[in-house]
Amino acid sequence: MLSTQAPFFFPTAPFILFVFTASTIFHLQQRLAKIQPTWELQMLEPATKESPSGPQRSPQPKGMWTINAIGRLGNQMGEYATLYALAKMNGRPAFIPPQMHSTLAPIFRITLPVLHDTTASRIPWQNYPRNGGREGGYRHIPGEYVRLTGYPCSWTFYHHLRAEILQEFTLHDHVREEAQNFLRALQVNGSRPSTYVGVHVRRGDYVHVMPNVWKGVVADRGYLQQALDWFRARYPSPIFVVTSNGMAWCRENIEASRGDVVFAGNGIEGSPAKDFALLTQCNHTVMTIGTFGIWAAYLAGGETIYLANYTLPDSPFLKVFKPEAAFLPDWTGIAADLSPLLKH
Ligand SMILES: *[C@@H]1O[C@H](CO)[C@@H](O)[C@H](O)[C@H]1NC(C)=O
Ligand SMILES: *[C@@H]1O[C@H](CO)[C@@H](O)[C@H](O)[C@H]1NC(C)=O
Ligand SMILES: *[C@@H]1O[C@H](CO)[C@@H](O)[C@H](O)[C@H]1NC(C)=O
Repeated sequence: MLSTQAPFFFPTAPFILFVFTASTIFHLQQRLAKIQPTWELQMLEPATKESPSGPQRSPQPKGMWTINAIGRLGNQMGEYATLYALAKMNGRPAFIPPQMHSTLAPIFRITLPVLHDTTASRIPWQNYPRNGGREGGYRHIPGEYVRLTGYPCSWTFYHHLRAEILQEFTLHDHVREEAQNFLRALQVNGSRPSTYVGVHVRRGDYVHVMPNVWKGVVADRGYLQQALDWFRARYPSPIFVVTSNGMAWCRENIEASRGDVVFAGNGIEGSPAKDFALLTQCNHTVMTIGTFGIWAAYLAGGETIYLANYTLPDSPFLKVFKPEAAFLPDWTGIAADLSPLLKH
């Protein structure tokens, strides 16, 4: 398991990262909480009305918007999609930082242009939501030079633009082909399966951070058994394609004796393209926790099983993570077993 972790995970690093993450997300959520009554509805309205017929003068959009590039792949996908959607709603051109381009462009055919650091450093940005929370929420952010901050993790920002978001996150041909070649070679009972279920098991730092920081659990053996059985009951001979940053644990805890489970992927967090592509090329998804799994499920687009209610009700995690805004309503939750948290 250790070998699958990126080298920057020294023992204290996850905690520093999480405290930083927590305070940032906390800030964001405080803003969201204030505007909650209206912002989701506003998200769903088009930002600008088509002008009636007549000479179409498209006014030069003024200013530029950007967003911070923090976290790993799943977080940065959320940041990209949120910037894309909110800038579009507000009629502003969006630019991404070079670090986000380095994370996303090797995998996806993203189109937003890069704003280089030297240019960015000369711009008098207004940071949102750090100084935001205005009336009207996110739809009318009244700035020409806006930098969104935090770790947005909610389909409510961009789901009305789903087709465009899927387009932005289309895999490069060589990335997709590598995943397809792997899937094509798989067999169940001597024939090629017709149903592929991607299984993402997030472990690594979360194994300690969930109980110690967030009063929560990660997915256990029982959850994965239930999730796989859910698909076994609904599809004839599905195959389960497991990716994880803790593959040794998966091999010990996912029942594979039926011959319908393949431990795939390399679990390398620093170059996640292979694992991510495998998951998105499957038809359906079993996720555990984390934005990597959420994004894989969103792109795969089939049926999705997620781990639900994986913290105690008084967990600070619920101040920074809103399940109803993170999991699509048609996904299926299986409640986590919280009993390990109550033993102490
Ligand atoms: C393989 O085929 C046998 C006989 O048809 C069936 O009982 C079994 O469930 C199949 N295994 C899987 C994993 O689908
Ligand atoms: C399921 O996924 C496989 C592998 O990507 C693909 O070939 C197949 O067309 C998909 N099936 C459906 C019904 O989408
Ligand atoms: C999670 O908890 C909420 C609130 O108690 C409950 O309504 C929901 O059904 C639970 N989800 C699952 C999948 O058990």
